Amino acid sequence: MMLIWATVVVFAPTVFADSLDFLPTQLSATPRDYVRDQLSSYPDVLLYGDTYTALQVLQDAYYEAWVGTWPTAIDWTAAVIATHVTGALQSLSEGLELIRAKTDASDYWNKENTISRYFTQLIGFYFGQDAFSIRNQAFDDMLWVVLGWLDTIRFIKSHDASHSFTISRPRGPTDSDPKAPKNESWHGSLWSPAFAHRARIFWDLSETGWDTKLCGGGMTWNPRLLPYKNAITNELFIAASINMYLHFPGDTNTAPFKVNFDPESPAPPGITEWPPHDPKYLKAATDGYKWLTSSNMTNAAGLYTDGFHISGYPNAGNNNTKCDQRDEMVYTYNQGVLLTGQLGLFRVTGDPSYLRDGHRLIQAVIRATGYDLETDRPVDRISRRRLPPWRGLGRAGILEDACDAKGTCSQDGQTFKGIWMHHFTTFCAPLEPLPSNVPAPAPTASYQSSFEDTRTAHAVACQRYVGWLSYNAMAARGTRDSDGKFGMWWTVGLFNITAMSVPTPPDAVPHTPGAVDYRNNGVPNDPVWMTQTSVPLPPVREKEESQHRMSEQERRSAIASRDVDEAARRDPNRRGRGRTVETQGGGLAVLRALWEVSKQGLV
Ligand SMILES: *[C@@H]1O[C@H](CO)[C@@H](O)[C@H](O)[C@H]1NC(C)=O
Ligand SMILES: *[C@@H]1O[C@H](CO)[C@@H](O)[C@H](O)[C@H]1NC(C)=O
Ligand SMILES: *[C@@H]1O[C@H](CO)[C@@H](O)[C@H](O)[C@H]1NC(C)=O
Ligand SMILES: *[C@@H]1O[C@H](CO)[C@@H](O)[C@H](O)[C@H]1NC(C)=O
Repeated sequence: MMLIWATVVVFAPTVFADSLDFLPTQLSATPRDYVRDQLSSYPDVLLYGDTYTALQVLQDAYYEAWVGTWPTAIDWTAAVIATHVTGALQSLSEGLELIRAKTDASDYWNKENTISRYFTQLIGFYFGQDAFSIRNQAFDDMLWVVLGWLDTIRFIKSHDASHSFTISRPRGPTDSDPKAPKNESWHGSLWSPAFAHRARIFWDLSETGWDTKLCGGGMTWNPRLLPYKNAITNELFIAASINMYLHFPGDTNTAPFKVNFDPESPAPPGITEWPPHDPKYLKAATDGYKWLTSSNMTNAAGLYTDGFHISGYPNAGNNNTKCDQRDEMVYTYNQGVLLTGQLGLFRVTGDPSYLRDGHRLIQAVIRATGYDLETDRPVDRISRRRLPPWRGLGRAGILEDACDAKGTCSQDGQTFKGIWMHHFTTFCAPLEPLPSNVPAPAPTASYQSSFEDTRTAHAVACQRYVGWLSYNAMAARGTRDSDGKFGMWWTVGLFNITAMSVPTPPDAVPHTPGAVDYRNNGVPNDPVWMTQTSVPLPPVREKEESQHRMSEQERRSAIASRDVDEAARRDPNRRGRGRTVETQGGGLAVLRALWEVSKQGLV
């Protein structure tokens, strides 16, 4: 059996005892006990209920049916929120079966009403999504759209497979045998062609971002700025392309170029203008992966930095076409989206090196939160009153973006951790063999082990993350306010840190040399990012008016002058933008990750 990346760790629960004085008093269990309790009380109805409640709060508090969207989101964050809803529906659909024995709300119609309640909101979003505007945005904005609708198609397929039912229908004019029962598919499947069309249109648009003139390849981020090839656009392109190869069901809809609503002359049956499993998607994914992994974008800690500029590019007579000027900023989401790409590439090629790369990336992230997987505990000695030091992507074993502790997250920044959790969940799902209708290339030289061995090794490796994951879920749960709304800075869910006692930067988060946090602070109007001859571009990615970030100085003076109410003084998650649809999406994603990954260890 091949265990390159998975070593089975013998847990030693006693090592925790002396370092758990930071746990909130109302919790009787340590994280390890918490996981063990789950083992004995599987399925964990409490965790399941919390995940479901997070979805309910997300939709009740932030979704508006009459506009078919979450109006406080921006285009790309709404696409991500829809993806979290789809993920939650997938978990609900499967989970309601599992917890049947433990609940009384288990009958078919209750269940179906729950699924449909949220699924119809996704249908609303198909129309509420501002597809026209996104067509003119950056390439990453387009690719979130592709990933989101492909996930919805997968959900429809899996829910339909277990929930289509046989009905007797009244006689119709074309029924050859009117008495024969018909198999009726789940109603959601009516929407798959529309969602597939949207995914295909946006993949086609985004593909124009692939460029070989500079840096030997790679996706450009934003056509309106100086060339910047960043991790997120390339990871999205890899993940979206391999998912198009695997899950796109084909599309016959020629809109927007040729619209034919004439029922007298429908498209001839069997004509698929954009077929499923088109090899061009697989090629795009593998080319993207080769470019990204040889681009030198990872730092010494094994984490993806944000991306590359080309030095001297705007200068007259410049000859340089190399990606040689790296933005050292590290964000959580740049370590996440690639995992979906790696899983898909493994499924198609059978090459376990994609999975190994994914586990290395996950383990680098966990290390950078200040957590040691070997001992299954945070590396820092922790007391409830003192925030341990920043470890690169968090502290105390909890995932953080740098803006969390500073309270300076933009809408972008508030969305990142949930994205990481979503793709981590996708990656750590039990491996399924490639369906026989998906053409697979010949196995590569590194395909050395059988599928079963790889599946076992992968599952064992994923179970190693459950202790860390439960810390994060527990911390995130601790940030909920009395309305059940999650905060953005999960770490404070475990610490008695008030808004007044948060250390100020750089104590909270030291500055990394060469890092430009353009996602939270805006794209600098300088010759690295923008052509200086043109009028500076308006912000393209944010509804600036909806940003109410508070500077560190404002925060301190507000606290000193007692301009903020008592709750704000206590709660670090009321700083900056406060609790939003984006932070709620993150809370849902981390609880769902724990539910999905922990339940596998138990079956
Ligand atoms: C309906 O579906 C079931 C289960 O997939 C199958 O066994 C049955 O033959 C189908 N019936 C018809 C009329 O297609
Ligand atoms: C990779 O990038 C780092 C940071 O920009 C740089 O110091 C290093 O020389 C680069 N390595 C290669 C092989 O280009
Ligand atoms: C560009 O290349 C040409 C020919 O190789 C050279 O003469 C010129 O100095 C280069 N320009 C810069 C800015 O490096
Ligand atoms: C948290 O700290 C404050 C002082 O900053 C203290 O008054 C309060 O009792 C502490 N709460 C807990 C649960 O320890």
